[in-house]
This record gives sequence, C-alpha cells and structure tokens, in this order.
Amino acid sequence: MLPPTGLGLGVTLAATVLTPLASAFVYNTFDGPGSPSCHNVSRVHDATSVEDMAAVVKAAAAQPNARVRAAGKGHMWYDTQCSDDLTIIVRTERVAAISAFDLPAGAEKGSVVVEAGVTFFQLAEYLHARGASVGYTLTNWNISFGGSVAMGAHRSSIREDSMVAAGALEMDIIDGQGLIRTVVRDGSEEWLAASTSLGLLGIIARIKLQIYPDTKVYAKQATLSEKDVLNGDIYGMIAPYATANLWWWPYKRKFHHRYYDPVPANSTAQEGFQNTFSLTEIEAVAARTMLDSGKYLPTSNMLAEEIFFGLWSKPNFREKTTNKDIEHWPVYGWNYDVLIGGLYPDQKAEWDYGLRGYTMELAFPVTMANKMLKRVRQLFDAELKKGIVMTSTYRSGINIKFGKAYFDLLGQVTYNTADGADWSKGAIMFDFPSYRPTVGDEKRFNEPFYHRLANTLIDEFPCRPHWTKNTRDVFARSAKNLDPGHLARFKAVRAQFDPKGIYRNVIGEILGFY
Ligand SMILES: Cc1cc2nc3c(=O)[nH]c(=O)nc-3n(C[C@H](O)[C@H](O)[C@H](O)COP(=O)(O)OP(=O)(O)OC[C@H]3O[C@@H](n4cnc5c(N)ncnc54)[C@H](O)[C@@H]3O)c2cc1C
Ligand SMILES: *[C@@H]1O[C@H](CO)[C@@H](O)[C@H](O)[C@H]1NC(C)=O
Ligand SMILES: *[C@@H]1O[C@H](CO)[C@@H](O)[C@H](O)[C@H]1NC(C)=O
Ligand SMILES: *[C@@H]1O[C@H](CO)[C@@H](O)[C@H](O)[C@H]1NC(C)=O
Repeated sequence: MLPPTGLGLGVTLAATVLTPLASAFVYNTFDGPGSPSCHNVSRVHDATSVEDMAAVVKAAAAQPNARVRAAGKGHMWYDTQCSDDLTIIVRTERVAAISAFDLPAGAEKGSVVVEAGVTFFQLAEYLHARGASVGYTLTNWNISFGGSVAMGAHRSSIREDSMVAAGALEMDIIDGQGLIRTVVRDGSEEWLAASTSLGLLGIIARIKLQIYPDTKVYAKQATLSEKDVLNGDIYGMIAPYATANLWWWPYKRKFHHRYYDPVPANSTAQEGFQNTFSLTEIEAVAARTMLDSGKYLPTSNMLAEEIFFGLWSKPNFREKTTNKDIEHWPVYGWNYDVLIGGLYPDQKAEWDYGLRGYTMELAFPVTMANKMLKRVRQLFDAELKKGIVMTSTYRSGINIKFGKAYFDLLGQVTYNTADGADWSKGAIMFDFPSYRPTVGDEKRFNEPFYHRLANTLIDEFPCRPHWTKNTRDVFARSAKNLDPGHLARFKAVRAQFDPKGIYRNVIGEILGFY
C-alpha cells in the first residue's frame, strides 16, 4: 500500500502527488477495519522529518483541489478526520524527535521541544530519566502531541491547567503552502486559533512544551452514592486536587471519585503503575461474550456493570518493580506512572482483542454540573418507566471529567462567550463510552436512547463537543452553541494560513469555515 520511503524526496513526491490515482481507500481509526476516520484517501505518506512533511504539502499545494491531513496514532472515534474529498494522509509517527531539554537544577519550570509524532509515553520516559514531567496536561499514553494539541485534548482538573495546549509555549505549523510558521504564546489571534486548531491551520510540526521537576503523586478513590453526587457540591469534590474525576455507574446508582495530588518524593518507596485499557485474553473474551449478548438482553448489561464496578473499585495499579497487584488505596508512584501508566507488560489493550466502543463527549459549565447530571438521570429513568434498564457498558463507567477555564477560540473550556454562561469556573465533561457489539448491525441495546440523550443535552444546555469523540451529527447539532464571534475570528486566521483550504475536514465544513 505504501510506497517505500527513503527513495529520495523527488521520487517520493512524484509518486505522491503526480501519479494519477487508481483507487481511493478508507483510512481507519485505532479500532481498525470497520472504523473509518477518512473515506477517500489517495495515499498515506509515512513522513520522516519536518522538512519531508513540508515538502509533501508544498507539492500538494501546487495541484488543484489537493487535500492533506496529518495523522498521529488514530486515537479518534469517528469519520471526522478528513473531508470526503480525495486526501493525502501525512503520518507523523516517525517524526518523533525530542530536543532542547531545559530544566536547570532548582528551577520551578523549564521546557522541551517535541516533534508532532512524539507520544505521551515516549516523552514521559525521556523526561523521567531527566527528573522532569509535563505536569497535568496529559491524555492517554499512545497518543501524539500533534494530535492532542490540534484537537483540544485534555485530562481532568479544575485546579491545574489540564488541556494539552495549555502546556504549549510555541508551535511550528506547516501552513497551506508548505511554509513553516512559528506561533508563540502571546495572546495574538494566531495563537488563540493555533491553540485548538482542529488541524485546519496546517500540520503542527513541533511544539515547545512547559515542563516541571518530576514528582511523586498519590491516587485515591472513594465510592459515593448517586444522590450524594447529584445533590452534592461537585465543584468542591474536584477543585481541591491536582487532578480528579468521577465515574458514573447508572445501574448501580453509584459513582467512583478518583483524585490525585503530589507527595514528597522521599515519602514513599512505592512505584505504582496504572493500567489504562489493558486486559488478559480470558478477561477480554468473557467481556466480549457478555457484552455482545447485552445487545439483546439487558440482564447481560446489568451483570456486566456489576462486574466492572467491582473490578474498578480496587486499585487498577501494579507495583512497577515487582509487577504485583497493589491492593489498597492510596497508591503512590511517579507522576506519569500514576496519572496515566499504560499497559501491563503481559497484557494487551482492549481494542487489540476486538473490544470496540462508541462514545459521545460534551462539555458544560461546571456551575451547571448538578443540573446536567440530574437531567441525564431523568432520561435514564424515563427508559426505566418503559421497562428498559440502561447501564454503562464500559469497563470504567461513564467518564465525568473536568477542565480549568482556558481561553482560546475553539477550545472546550474557553470563556467569555456569547452564550452568556459562566465558563470561568471551569467545565464538566460528560463522556459516555459504550460497547460496540461485534454482532449483527453493531448497534447498541436501545440504540435510539443514545441519540435522544445527545440531542436533549445539546438542545437544553450551552454545551460544546470534544473534537474527536463525537459523530458528524453531534457536531452539526451543537454548532449553534458555539460563539459566532469566535468562529469568525478562527475563520479569518484559517484563511490566512491555508487560503486554498487544503487541510479542510468535515468539522471545518460543518462550522462554516469554507
Ligand atoms: C483510548 C483513548 C483514550 C483517550 N483519552 C483521552 C483523554 O483522556 N482526553 C482527551 O481529551 N482525549 C482523549 N482521547 C482522544 C484523543 O486525545 C484525540 O482523539 C487525539 O486527537 C488523538 O491523537 P492521535 O495522535 O491519535 O491523532 P489521530 O487520531 O491520528 O488524529 C486526530 C485528529 O488530529 C489531526 N492531527 C493529528 N496530528 C496532527 C498534527 N501534527 N497537526 C495537525 N493535526 C493533526 C488529524 O488530522 C485528526 O483530525 C482518547 C482516545 C482514545 C482512543
Ligand atoms: C501504539 O500505536 C501504534 C500504532 O500507531 C501501535 O503499532 C503500537 O502497538 C501501539 N502501542 C501500544 C503499546 O499499544
Ligand atoms: C473522492 O473525492 C473525489 C474528489 O476529490 C470525488 O470525485 C469522489 O467522488 C470521492 N469519492 C468518494 C468515495 O467520496
Ligand atoms: C524529604 O526531603 C525534604 C527536602 O526535600 C526534607 O526536608 C525531609 O526531611 C525529607 N524527609 C525524609 C523522611 O527524608
């Protein structure tokens, strides 16, 4: 499928852009075949350097109607990466150098430069070896910095900055003509657009990131009854901690409350390592069998939620030095290992066993947290009145995250918007992952419910979509909630970076940028 790289630039480019293309193909998300992220791809260019990416864009820009989109690790959920026009994908995986490490002894912060394809675990390993970390501006482990910054990805915190872009100091962006433009964090229109750009200004090639001295942290978890959260001080449960979130078990009517904060490095010898998404094959087969039957039988989903809840109540951590399970909260360890961790060495990621998901994520002003969660509860209860039991079919429940306010044009946690809502205290994100059956039409049990829920929230609240966790329908319906002034300002910068629109995608089309 891919022409060999390293043929020399001229030859590669001729093959890339000038050859008439026999047949377009589909490009998939991390979930593989059956999960398209782009429908109409002419070729995938496995880029080898920033200059190589710029050369591909320059050559493409000389052609009429060319389209180019960057690709990181494919950790997105729906067919919203590209437009439906014939597109060249530029993969950043091999453009992954880390340089310019700068954290003088005793300094509170410093910086490092990563290329587009560097992943969170690559940088974490590099920084830990040098006594540093990126703090709380994180996402999951096998995701690129380019992809995260482009799409406004974030962790969960009200106290600390947790949007990945909030940790960026400078970016090099390859514009629509293949020229590299440096954008710095100076509050200019260019910066505010680049901070959450959806890849529409160009390929983010390099990012200068803020770093900090490495710390140890603890992780703790409590189980709360649903009514104590729905009627409780949700802001007060999250804001005191460096990072914190809730997981909702709607059938059990319970929440898990997870929170993390630093401890002195010399206060503990434990080196906890969090398991995010790894499973044994036996667990995977059991889960798949149960959840596939849950497409038809709600009792299977009820049982699944019962089991997942029980498993998720215990620490999902091992001691890194011995690989033994850690049995008790709190768990201690190095910043990245505890906040994110990764796969246990003897296990694989759930998607590698064919466990796939759908999701939907919307952000609301945190001041509306109780009202929003109560509205979702009402919608669950309306199903119950019809005799239909809805559950969470995901191993860690419904993921409720939070974000500190951070100003840019298209970010989920921006503020001072025309909706008049108070976003200044931060946001609550409702992220509802669900199992995608491997059988039949692959639709979920009571599929229409998920769409009703999304539509109701979008129509009744001033909520904003996560840029890679929603369908085209959700983007189209929620566009009315975005600030028209912000959209217009973004559009003006976009037109300046990419006048011919070679980076356009369906989200940009829905938002009226073309
Ligand atoms: C298991 C899992 C866990 C996740 N956890 C979180 C989380 O905790 N918080 C959160 O916010 N999100 C999370 N996400 C979503 C994820 O952060 C985003 O989808 C992110 O954009 C994926 O980056 P990627 O490197 O995989 O890029 P891809 O999926 O390859 O690309 C995503 C989009 O970014 C564009 N893009 C990629 N690289 C560049 C670049 N260098 N320049 C310009 N545009 C680019 C692509 O064209 C595409 O539109 C998760 C996703 C998964 C699957
Ligand atoms: C990370 O993603 C790449 C695909 O881009 C995949 O080949 C690799 O196995 C993944 N790593 C882990 C640990 O899942
Ligand atoms: C792919 O895009 C080209 C134009 O760029 C268009 O003519 C063709 O119909 C598209 N194919 C699909 C499958 O969308
Ligand atoms: C841990 O280190 C701090 C200084 O960083 C020191 O004040 C404290 O006494 C040390 N504690 C122990 C238990 O060694």
